[in-house]
Amino acid sequence: MNISTPPPLTHQSKPTCAIVIGANGGIGSAVIDALQAEESLDIIFAISRTTSSADSSSANKTVWLKSDSTETSIEKVCGHIADFAPVIKYVVIATGTLHNQEKQRMPEKRLGQLNKQNLSEVLEVNAMIPLLWLKSLSPLHQKKSDTRIAVLSARVGSIEDNSLGGWYSYRASKAALNMLLKTLAIEYRRRFPAIKIISFHPGTTDTCLSEPFQANVPQGKLFKPAFVASQLLSLMANSPSDGELSFVDWEHKAIPW
Ligand SMILES: NC(=O)c1ccc[n+]([C@@H]2O[C@H](COP(=O)([O-])OP(=O)(O)OC[C@H]3O[C@@H](n4cnc5c(N)ncnc54)[C@H](OP(=O)(O)O)[C@@H]3O)[C@@H](O)[C@H]2O)c1
Repeated sequence: MNISTPPPLTHQSKPTCAIVIGANGGIGSAVIDALQAEESLDIIFAISRTTSSADSSSANKTVWLKSDSTETSIEKVCGHIADFAPVIKYVVIATGTLHNQEKQRMPEKRLGQLNKQNLSEVLEVNAMIPLLWLKSLSPLHQKKSDTRIAVLSARVGSIEDNSLGGWYSYRASKAALNMLLKTLAIEYRRRFPAIKIISFHPGTTDTCLSEPFQANVPQGKLFKPAFVASQLLSLMANSPSDGELSFVDWEHKAIPW
């Protein structure tokens, strides 16, 4: 685990923090940039598989933590965050995969392209890893914590909205993610009633993930990561604790399950 120097804390013993997982991704890094302006935050924990390409000097309040998303590493990183005894204001999980960098694994157009390895990989990254992070962060919450948790999902995970077919693994992984989050929201309703969980669809956003599929995006519908980050943060700030999972898009509109 690589750790950058934490900013000095002078005014209180329990720092208020945000935790961003997938911090070097297109949307994750934009969320970190946007959070720098949040005066209520003392620390932003930026978690990534790679070290930061961004400035992690004392000029900002970001503490970079490296994790390869194995269960051991997730627990280690969460244990390190716990040492700060933080009040967690925001958790944003911006990890996800649609294709791999070498483009050997692309979303399936038909059943014949499905294979076990690709299906397992996509389910692991998109559905399992976010829940493992939330599991290991759970001991950091208190009964009265009013944390806002947002996990990056996708509209194509909606069963009702699936009129085009294709993209078997990615669709299934996001539908599975939504079910896992729904189940967590029910558990947290009892354990942490002030926590709010949001499954967020960012819209098509100009990142590595969407890059091979941008050609057919209608004009004005390919969003900048900074715009999406701002929409997400305003959604989180304005979502009341209701014990429900919300499946919501960049316009703050509910998506059918
Ligand atoms: N871009 C879009 O158009 C779009 C549309 C709908 C939904 N989404 C969702 O938005 C989320 C963020 O995507 P993005 O557009 O920002 O894509 P991105 O730039 O490719 O970032 C995704 C990040 O996920 C993390 N990640 C990828 N593979 C991983 C693995 N095997 N293990 C652990 N972490 C892994 C990485 O974070 P680190 O490099 O920091 O480790 C990576 O940078 C995803 O869940 C995606 O499904 C995006």
